[in-house]
Amino acid sequence: MAKYKIAWLPGDGIGVDVMDAARLVLDRLGVDAEYVPGDIGWEFWRKEGDALPKRTLDMMKATDCALFGAITSKGKDAADKELAPDLQGKGYSYRSPIVRMRQLLDLYICLRPCKAYPGNLLNYKDGIDLVVFRENTEGMYIGIEFAKAPEEFFAIKGMEKLPRDAAVSIRAITPGGSERIVRAAFEYARKHHRMKVTAVHKANVLRMTDGVFMDAARKVSAEYPDIAFDDANIDAMGMWLLKNPFNYEVIVTTNLFGDIISDLCAQMVGGLGFGCSGNIGTDYAVFEPTHGSAPKYAGQYKANPIATILAAKMMLDWLGETDKAAQIEGAVATVIAEGLVRTYDMGGTAKTLDMADAVVAKL
Ligand code: NAI
Ligand code: MG
Repeated sequence: MAKYKIAWLPGDGIGVDVMDAARLVLDRLGVDAEYVPGDIGWEFWRKEGDALPKRTLDMMKATDCALFGAITSKGKDAADKELAPDLQGKGYSYRSPIVRMRQLLDLYICLRPCKAYPGNLLNYKDGIDLVVFRENTEGMYIGIEFAKAPEEFFAIKGMEKLPRDAAVSIRAITPGGSERIVRAAFEYARKHHRMKVTAVHKANVLRMTDGVFMDAARKVSAEYPDIAFDDANIDAMGMWLLKNPFNYEVIVTTNLFGDIISDLCAQMVGGLGFGCSGNIGTDYAVFEPTHGSAPKYAGQYKANPIATILAAKMMLDWLGETDKAAQIEGAVATVIAEGLVRTYDMGGTAKTLDMADAVVAKL
């Protein structure tokens, strides 16, 4: 029996292409793993009314962790229209399988390392090396939304000022949820010899929710006197990150702000072809490139697989296979530094599997 059981979730679009590339690298490394394929994505919404079928969730629960490619999501109207005719009008409604996976498996950490590998012409500035910890299960993404505020709302004191025709999304921030993501950021800082953690918020406006988040952040930071702690408003952070990205080492923030900041950081180190992430819980994790399914390139084997190969590297780190993880990162760094094999986004003509072969050749 293999040492690890890994759920293998290519999804759709270029998810399939980049996962094929990552597999070449994992196979070459001889990771002692069984890869169990799972159904996820648009096709399963259309055919079954569920983009994350129960059998896939059950399969995941019987594995150590998952590597996930990308999936296509569409708005409500398109989703309803594309659903199989015999399922239409039966109460199916499309839900993002990624958000569901994070919530159902309590993958509360979204970890996004953003490192400017030397020689990458797409780097905004050389030397950027920071990590974003985004809270992954609460905040603006709890899925409690109303197209029109329910009548009962107006009976609550303070709600009179809500416009009658307002759409409402609920932002829920708990002390426990905040503490655990901040603690994860500090633990990471300690383990990886990072000197500072920065909490990002908008506590001057979102006084209650970000008040809870910042109280938790201050409380947890006091347990780590060896690591500096500061904070910044989300809007200012957008400016500071561009002005001086070297001032930041570990950033920790709530769900929506983290979603935004991590894309900004990914773009500073090469964009979607380089952005990798881990959705990590206490005893399960799903690793993925941050990009989507890029339908216009689906099946063309043109997309840059580095993000997915680096996601596989993160997965090996999480499994404790740190030597193999370091080998992957070293090989990727060498290929980037040499600049001989470049996919279209890097200004080259190499195909997805050419890039994987180049990385494999350096292992
Ligand atoms: P996207 O990330 O799929 O692609 C945007 C553009 O970025 C592409 O057209 C392509 O030019 C470039 N790009 C993306 N990945 C690349 C790669 N590996 N190498 C080179 N270039 C790359 O975002 P878009 O177009 O907004 O969304 C397409 C679909 O993906 C939508 O259905 C969306 O809902 C879904 N999506 C899924 C995500 C996921 O599975 N985690 C995340 C983001 C979007
Ligand atoms: Mg995002």
